[in-house]
Amino acid sequence: MRVMTILGSPRNNGNTAKVLGMFERLIADAHEVDRVNVTACEVKGCLGCRTCQNTPAEPGCVQKDDALPIFRRMMDADVVLYATPLYCWCFPSQMKALIDRSFCLATGYGTPDYQSLLKGKRTVLLVTCGGPVEDNADLIKVVFSRMNSYVQCKVVGNYIVPFCTTPGAIGPQAEAIVKKMAGDIVGVG
Ligand SMILES: Cc1cc2nc3c(=O)[nH]c(=O)nc-3n(C[C@H](O)[C@H](O)[C@H](O)COP(=O)(O)O)c2cc1C
Repeated sequence: MRVMTILGSPRNNGNTAKVLGMFERLIADAHEVDRVNVTACEVKGCLGCRTCQNTPAEPGCVQKDDALPIFRRMMDADVVLYATPLYCWCFPSQMKALIDRSFCLATGYGTPDYQSLLKGKRTVLLVTCGGPVEDNADLIKVVFSRMNSYVQCKVVGNYIVPFCTTPGAIGPQAEAIVKKMAGDIVGVG
């Protein structure tokens, strides 16, 4: 199985990278991992021009940055995992830019021609945060669910690692979450 992982933290060696790395190592023997560090890419904000709606057969956009190659990699994956720190109850702006730009993957919304280039793709949300899950990491799950519904993907799991302090302090709780995630998603762990 090809698993595309998208790291949404600007900290390449931070909490999210640590937990995501644990997951990738766990599945790497049995599955192909294709990682993109979104904050190292150039993904500009959506301009709202809707030109992308004219090319239903391929991801189209007037902005020729790294977003379209990332979307093509998503199309080639069996599972797409979004790994992100929680920033103000939602995604960091770099990740949000990619999410807004994924508007180009679905065309004809609200018409009989509604379609998505990611139709049926399995997706996963992994979040690290400094606080608890309750009244904190709830909104991001709703945003993720709505956005996946729009691009006709199937969310197969939401995994939240609460009370993260430093990468060095990430321990058994995260390990258990990663193991469960690998079992649920690719049957490893
Ligand atoms: C700008 C900013 C906003 C944050 N907002 C939240 C938040 O709303 N809720 C929370 O629990 N933690 C919040 N945090 C803490 C991070 O989510 C947490 O430390 C996370 O594990 C950082 O991951 P990283 O090391 O991969 O960047 C915030 C941190 C920053 C820098």
